[in-house]
Amino acid sequence: MRKRPIIVVNFGSQYVQLIARRIRELGVYSEIVHWDTPLEEIKEREPYGIIFSGGPASVYAEGAPLPDPRIYELGIPILGICYGLQVITHQLGGKVARSEKQEYGRARLRIVKEDVIFEGIPKESDVWMSHADKVVELPEGFEVLAVSENSPYAVIANREKKIYGFQFHPEVTHTVYGREMLANFVYGVCKAERNWEMGDFIKEKIEEIRKTVGNAKVIAALSGGVDSTVAAVLTHRAIGDKLHCFFIDHGLLRLGEREEVERNLRALGLPLTVVDASKLFLERLKGVEDPEEKRKIIGRTFIEVFEKEAKKIEGAEYLLQGTLYPDVVESAGIKGSAKIKTHHNVGGLPERMNLKLLEPFRELFKDEVRQIGRLLGIPEEILKRHPFPGPGLAIRIIGEVNERDLEILRKADYIFIEELKKEGLYDRIWQAFAVLLPVKSVGVMGDVRTYEKVIALRAVESVDGMTADWYRLPYDFLDRVMRRIINEVEGVNRVVYDVSSKPPSTIEWE
Ligand code: XMP
Repeated sequence: MRKRPIIVVNFGSQYVQLIARRIRELGVYSEIVHWDTPLEEIKEREPYGIIFSGGPASVYAEGAPLPDPRIYELGIPILGICYGLQVITHQLGGKVARSEKQEYGRARLRIVKEDVIFEGIPKESDVWMSHADKVVELPEGFEVLAVSENSPYAVIANREKKIYGFQFHPEVTHTVYGREMLANFVYGVCKAERNWEMGDFIKEKIEEIRKTVGNAKVIAALSGGVDSTVAAVLTHRAIGDKLHCFFIDHGLLRLGEREEVERNLRALGLPLTVVDASKLFLERLKGVEDPEEKRKIIGRTFIEVFEKEAKKIEGAEYLLQGTLYPDVVESAGIKGSAKIKTHHNVGGLPERMNLKLLEPFRELFKDEVRQIGRLLGIPEEILKRHPFPGPGLAIRIIGEVNERDLEILRKADYIFIEELKKEGLYDRIWQAFAVLLPVKSVGVMGDVRTYEKVIALRAVESVDGMTADWYRLPYDFLDRVMRRIINEVEGVNRVVYDVSSKPPSTIEWE
């Protein structure tokens, strides 16, 4: 039987999948549809409710994405988020205009009228705004339920028709009561019933993988990270040794990482080949400074090495990848999203080798994958590993990569992570690492002038890598790490801590 969903209408927001996933977390099935999906198709799915996502357009601009206006007559509750709120306002006769002051980041929301949507939420709380347009006139039948300093129409509603609009983003964690507001919409307004849990997803995916793969073979390049490991274990569960895994050491790994990963993967019973290709990678990176260029070289070389190895597996028809939703969005696999960085996975290989892609987690976020891993019995130590980018330390050495700098960075990074673990901080942080800057600064050590490199430490909190805030590490802790790095790592005489959030920065420096 088909599950009744909450339908998320996609207007091109980077957060669209995050909204769907929040709804699934609340225990209700959720599906995403493109904004011009015919109304009939939406109706057929008998949704409990509809959510309009945000988006980069302006409702008053020519060609702006707008849904079929009859959607408001279906009697199905609607929640518009950011651009979605503006769509509702515009289509129902209100007015949206460009605001003089754009509003990005934290804002204080103040409830001015009680409503079911605010059940269990304090009168004032922090929300996350990100908009350049704003509502200046309400449509008929609507009223203001909450305001912020810069948004007199932060929450609006036509309560009779069960149409709501939020100017802020309830789906991001920086909106402190976002989850509660979405729950109030889903359960309080839409009266949805619980119909979704992660166990269902695993069962469905295993079935799907078996059906898709049939008697063919599947190959995978593992990184030792959460996504590819969980994908491999899930697929192994589905098709056994028709899966073959490779781990390629590109020479850009952290201290002791190759040994650790090999041990972990073998302990999980995965069929595995380990390949050392570090010399080749480092040679090709010689003299290259541009981050995108480095990514491309690494990506290309990775494919080359992998292709050579994978050809030894006869009958391979599929390539398994642990691609997550943020990878899909940030490499602009989603219509209308801007390209930020080229993510190195093994893109390009499938066409060359005539392989089909198997991407069981394409719609999921990292912590959902962790949850799956837990249900599959993968040890916490693996599941709690911080994300590590495909291009490895190459994008944490700003500028050219060479052996000496790799060694410096490896040592500094190891100290930082070791101290985080000792202090019980590692598991509270989404991702932490050291970056080696191409800057030299003057120092004094034992009465002698030094002129050496700078290490930047980065630690961030995040749920999905799409937004992030710097982690407030205790001063004493930073002090200890600084001391150890400068004393133990030759070639470094200064340590700095990165206090940028994403946006406007990104997590990695390159
Ligand atoms: P940024 O730096 O874009 O990072 O804020 C978001 C998350 O993605 C990881 N990242 C990468 N992962 N290949 C990867 O597989 C890449 O090229 C890449 N660049 C960034 C980053 O570590 C963070 O978790």
